Amino acid sequence: MGIHKAVIPAAGLGTRFLPATKAQPKEMIPLIDTPTIQLIVEEAVTSGIDDLLVVIGRDKGSIEDHFDRAPELEEFLREKGKTDLLMVVQDVSRIAADIHFIRQKIPMGLGHAVLAARRHIGREPFGVLLGDDVMTGPTPVLRQLIDKWRSGLSVVAVQEVPVDEASRYGIVFGKSLADGTIQVDSLLEKPPVHLVGERPLAVMGRYVLDPAVFSALSDVAPGAGGEIQLTDALDVLAHQGQLIAVPFRGTRFDVGEKFGFVKATIAAALNRADLRDDVLSYLRQILDQPE
Ligand code: G1P
Repeated sequence: MGIHKAVIPAAGLGTRFLPATKAQPKEMIPLIDTPTIQLIVEEAVTSGIDDLLVVIGRDKGSIEDHFDRAPELEEFLREKGKTDLLMVVQDVSRIAADIHFIRQKIPMGLGHAVLAARRHIGREPFGVLLGDDVMTGPTPVLRQLIDKWRSGLSVVAVQEVPVDEASRYGIVFGKSLADGTIQVDSLLEKPPVHLVGERPLAVMGRYVLDPAVFSALSDVAPGAGGEIQLTDALDVLAHQGQLIAVPFRGTRFDVGEKFGFVKATIAAALNRADLRDDVLSYLRQILDQPE
């Protein structure tokens, strides 16, 4: 069986981005002109996913509308002859995946949000993409994980992080294998710095999970922050020898915090033919000015 379903947990309140998130989900905040959730959905689809479940906390209206047809807007753009924009708008609603929504009724953490997907996923392996981690690079990161997956295994994306930043992440411990992956022995969610080792490997928001994760999730006690942690359920799978970690190729931006969002915005602008030259000359101009 291949991997064709994925879950996007999007139930956070986005308090770090208030007031922008007062009346809209943080996943709708755009990098330049594209909501971050669209980038995540596109990564899933280019990885081969055709069935997405978005776990939302409250109003999903704008996310649902974003991926739907917009007849009045399309008509307006057609009448004005703005065919480029018409294509942009239509392309979003033609994304080649079914997008479903489910509500996480109480915010009890990432693991709890994934558990809310249990009935929809059933007994299939599935992907998970965290909306705060925007990834760029030639091969979608979820695809890189799927390429290393084998039946019965679960897979997480990892990246080495500086020791003093490791306590922000889930950290994996294990042995390197000949193919560059890591056989994970254990994981800790947001461990204190003295437990992270010299070259900590952090989990970075992309997972391929065996459905065995659901029973592990329903058994784990609340962990870091009093929440049901996905990392704690993965630790159960790791102890059964069923978890590997993949150091992925690509760049990861943490758009869940402000500086990460600014970096992602600058990188996105420099990656676009219509903006690159202007943005570069503006950056040079302000960097030349004394502070
Ligand atoms: C979550 C996970 C953590 C992971 C991180 C990656 O934490 O719990 O294991 O390393 O995403 O971004 P959060 O950032 O939601 O606190």
